[in-house]
Amino acid sequence: MTDLPARGAFPEGFLFGAATSSYQIEGHRFGGAGPTHWDSFAATPGNVVRAEDGATACDHYHRWEEDLDLIAAAGFDLYRFSTSWARVMPEGRGAVNMEGLDFYDRLVDGMLARGIKPALTLYHWELPAALSDLGGWRNREIANWFADFTEVIARRLGDRVFSAAPINEPWCVGWLGHFAGQHAPGLRDIRATAHAMHHILLAHGRAIAVMRSHGMGNLGAVCNFEYAHPADPSPEAATAARRYDAIYNRFFTEGIFHGRYPEEVLDGLGPHMPLNWQDDFATIGAPLDWFGINYYTCKRIAPAPGPWPALAELEGPLPKTAMGWEIFPEGLHAFLTRIAREYTGALPLIITENGMAAPDTLDGESCLDAGRIAYYAEHLDACLRAIAEGVPLRGYISWSLLDNYEWSLGYEKRFGLVHVDFESLTRRPKASYHAWARALGA
Ligand code: FCB
Repeated sequence: MTDLPARGAFPEGFLFGAATSSYQIEGHRFGGAGPTHWDSFAATPGNVVRAEDGATACDHYHRWEEDLDLIAAAGFDLYRFSTSWARVMPEGRGAVNMEGLDFYDRLVDGMLARGIKPALTLYHWELPAALSDLGGWRNREIANWFADFTEVIARRLGDRVFSAAPINEPWCVGWLGHFAGQHAPGLRDIRATAHAMHHILLAHGRAIAVMRSHGMGNLGAVCNFEYAHPADPSPEAATAARRYDAIYNRFFTEGIFHGRYPEEVLDGLGPHMPLNWQDDFATIGAPLDWFGINYYTCKRIAPAPGPWPALAELEGPLPKTAMGWEIFPEGLHAFLTRIAREYTGALPLIITENGMAAPDTLDGESCLDAGRIAYYAEHLDACLRAIAEGVPLRGYISWSLLDNYEWSLGYEKRFGLVHVDFESLTRRPKASYHAWARALGA
């Protein structure tokens, strides 16, 4: 079986971590959390495989100590987790659910007690339903609501977290949720998309300012990237791939680091943008201490008839994960060098998510996920190449610690280093977990 490159192959101080997110693991029916737009999205027929939701998930809400023990025993330096807005503020505004806030307080202390650095994400997608009723990300007011939520978290956890980022994967929140309709709130509306994509960045900037005002440091942003191959050698396919790249890989980074949006995106979204959006870049561009890259795959992009963006995704030739995603580690190397060159310069970069889904089955107590180990090994090699070329990559966080609720694909797609039996909720470390433990010298 392939092994992962050992910790010693990376520069001194390089940090390794594992990631999860609140709605995907906690069990949202516990502890006084309010309803979220993922609950209503999942309850609407046709949105989620078997209409599964995060009501129980991995029951991390009650099993968090066991889960932190697993992180520590693998030798990870850091745990990337998120706080559920609806758990902390069930209506999204106003009253705080102290039970929810206490939960995160215990969780952070539990990490520190085990020598694990808490890497906080404020928002990993479970918008309180009451805010969704008010238009959610379409409503400019969300920047104020999010600032207030950030304030509550900063006051309670800000003195102890190692790092913090406001919003996980703006593209998924904005585009998948409002244009493709594949994520909550399930809209397919270009005006909603334009508003949401801009308000996400505005809310990001406001949250950074709030956290700074509380003396918090080590603040970043986390975006996802997909390498866009033209589906064929035609100039039309090249243009289509550039458009896909601009929507997916450039909109948010250009907003944050260059104070503008790509022309190729404004070609479509321009007429639908909120009023005076150009005036918000001073807030959006608040200086950061690091930038996080989530990377999984590449796409083959072709032109398609119809209105902007007039794109089609074709099937590619490379081996695929259980998500149907092609395995393309070269794309990770390409983004590391490109992002440093075009956007972030000397700013530290972190891989904040990378990993694969596989149809993992148990053989007795073990799960031999050799494909996942190979995936990690190839992507860690891509990181090592980028580091050797001078890219200031400072950390790598695997997705995910546990098999969990994979959004519209329900519990079917397993990304975990640890197998979860969703009936008994028993955790069983897979071979990939043990490979990480060996690589990290645990
Ligand atoms: C990312 C999400 C994460 C998980 C992985 C597979 O887009 O941040 O929650 O769903 O993909």
